[in-house]
Amino acid sequence: MAKDFSSMEDSNRSRNPSIHEVSDPKRRIVLRGAAASAFLAPLTGTTMLAGLLGGCATTGGGAPSGPLLGFKSVPVSTEDTVRVPEGYEVQVIARWGDPVGLSGESAAFKADASNTAAEQEVQFGMHHDGIHFYPVNGSTSGLLVMNHEYVDDGLLHRDGLANWSAEKVRKAQAAHGVSVCEVEMKNGKWSVVTPSPWARRITARTPMSVSGPAAGHTLMKTAADASGRRVLGTLNNCGSGMTPWGTYLTCEENFIFYFNGPDQPDAHQRRWGLRKGDPVGYRWHAHDERFNAVKHPNEINRFGWVVEIDPMNPSHTPVKRTALGRAAHEGATVAMTKSGRAVVYMGEDARFEYIYKFVSRDTVKPGGFAANRDLLDHGTLYVARFDAGGRGVWLPLVHGQGALTAANGFADQGEVMIKSRQASDLLGGTKMDRPEWIEVDRQGWVYCTLTNNSNRGAKDQPAVDAANPRANNTMGHIIRWKEDGDHDGLTFQWNHFVLAGDPINEREQAKGNVKGDTFACPDGLWVDGRGVMWIQTDMSTSAMGKGELAIMGNNAMLAADPTTGEVRRFLTGPVGCEITGATATPDGRTMFINIQHPGESPSERSDPAQPTRFSNWPEKGQGTRPRSATVVIRRRDGGIIGT
Ligand code: FEO
Ligand code: CA
Ligand code: CA
Repeated sequence: MAKDFSSMEDSNRSRNPSIHEVSDPKRRIVLRGAAASAFLAPLTGTTMLAGLLGGCATTGGGAPSGPLLGFKSVPVSTEDTVRVPEGYEVQVIARWGDPVGLSGESAAFKADASNTAAEQEVQFGMHHDGIHFYPVNGSTSGLLVMNHEYVDDGLLHRDGLANWSAEKVRKAQAAHGVSVCEVEMKNGKWSVVTPSPWARRITARTPMSVSGPAAGHTLMKTAADASGRRVLGTLNNCGSGMTPWGTYLTCEENFIFYFNGPDQPDAHQRRWGLRKGDPVGYRWHAHDERFNAVKHPNEINRFGWVVEIDPMNPSHTPVKRTALGRAAHEGATVAMTKSGRAVVYMGEDARFEYIYKFVSRDTVKPGGFAANRDLLDHGTLYVARFDAGGRGVWLPLVHGQGALTAANGFADQGEVMIKSRQASDLLGGTKMDRPEWIEVDRQGWVYCTLTNNSNRGAKDQPAVDAANPRANNTMGHIIRWKEDGDHDGLTFQWNHFVLAGDPINEREQAKGNVKGDTFACPDGLWVDGRGVMWIQTDMSTSAMGKGELAIMGNNAMLAADPTTGEVRRFLTGPVGCEITGATATPDGRTMFINIQHPGESPSERSDPAQPTRFSNWPEKGQGTRPRSATVVIRRRDGGIIGT
């Protein structure tokens, strides 16, 4: 999110990405031919179980043996472009404002940002983040589903924040959410298919339902929704995940910034970061009263959830899954136990917040989403406690157990889920350095990026601990753990995969132990079908000094070998951007990543009078505004990415 957000005392914006690959044998989904062309086609039992149990070739002709990393690293860059290794090429698709495929070319992007709200509702949103590829025809066509995390009103509107209106609020809301588009490859080039029967925009106004323990709860009811089961929209969609039954999980991160708070927020509101007034300046409450928390205090409880979407069914009503808990959710990564249970790992990207996992009560059934519609409504949510000595415990957020009682302010399980931060405080979960993406490698280690936390060890703030060992942690680190038993284990062993930062940094607390190419502020994380770990960075001046940023250059994506720890820089982004989201075709020969907020101003929203002041990527030299977009990466020889 924008720099002004991160400068807030305890806010923690984060911008960033996603991933999930259909090519991961643990999570592989294959849709082909007739089955793929039917909107409601469920995964067949054979197909799904083959994916869940592994054993599939994930790289078309079979994964090659030998070193995982076979490319020559790219140098640090401060150029306003995307750089990839020799022998690779990039192509840009799905830019903010491009038609998503709902109405063909009738809503073409206007370079002066004069598109209407109605036009934005059929275009790709702003600030691309988590992304996933769902194959339709092998590795040559499929659906791309992606998040749009937030907006820069200075770029979104022709005259920025001036002349603020209901139309501008509606356009901003339309630029949030999720896009579903169809993409295809012809002669080695990918394009968005327009029109497409799968194309869809889900925005901050799209009706969605609520399920799980908090559905219908008193704290979820508002003047506009007496049922507490029907919410308009999803927002600040950051990381994402995909399920083995073929759905997409989009995660609501810094939702609290959209609300106008009372002069004196109550204890619950303060714990969730609600401030007096509209400190970030989204100004939605001026024309959409539900974002005025003074008048509608329960509306904030209806955000901060993981939302499940069926991308194959454009008429599916998205579902907010409250059994997974409420948080400033970064992402949601699904792993499977050998017994067939789904385990969802989730990080809460905020300073001193938590790492969670949800373990489903039931096992995943063959038959796609139709057979697993309620799977994420029943199960147990746990918060992680990392103890000294490399051991850890998962603490259950279950009403009536331990301190989670009515006497301590939790009337029922729904309230435990709505107030998961307060519950985790009571249970003694470990307060982490901004947990972002989580991924699982081929050996069963679970990795979480901890992007940075400059408040660690500061006056009146939590001190360093075993899991978060650096005060003023401006560089971030990656922690990993392996469950005792299976992914539903209640205890685990853990260690640090890497402490990010330049090993020769003059500041002792910023020294890292990276083996290979230096990086800082890890955010996006994805393990591909060959087992390569892709790390995406989100460095900003709010987290690092300008001198350190100059050394690190623009944000980048690096590849790591989880076994050796070697890190190699694969891609550098344009000026002011963040690299977010990664996914690939099943054959591993096409990778899609997102470039978010190119040209972001270091200190404020963009100036509509100087929209190209810092960047005009991707239309270099044409004078158009910088636009978030999806980048397609292929090897010129058509080979497997990373080899
Ligand atoms: Fe939206 Fe934590 O990155
Ligand atoms: Ca981030
Ligand atoms: Ca992020």
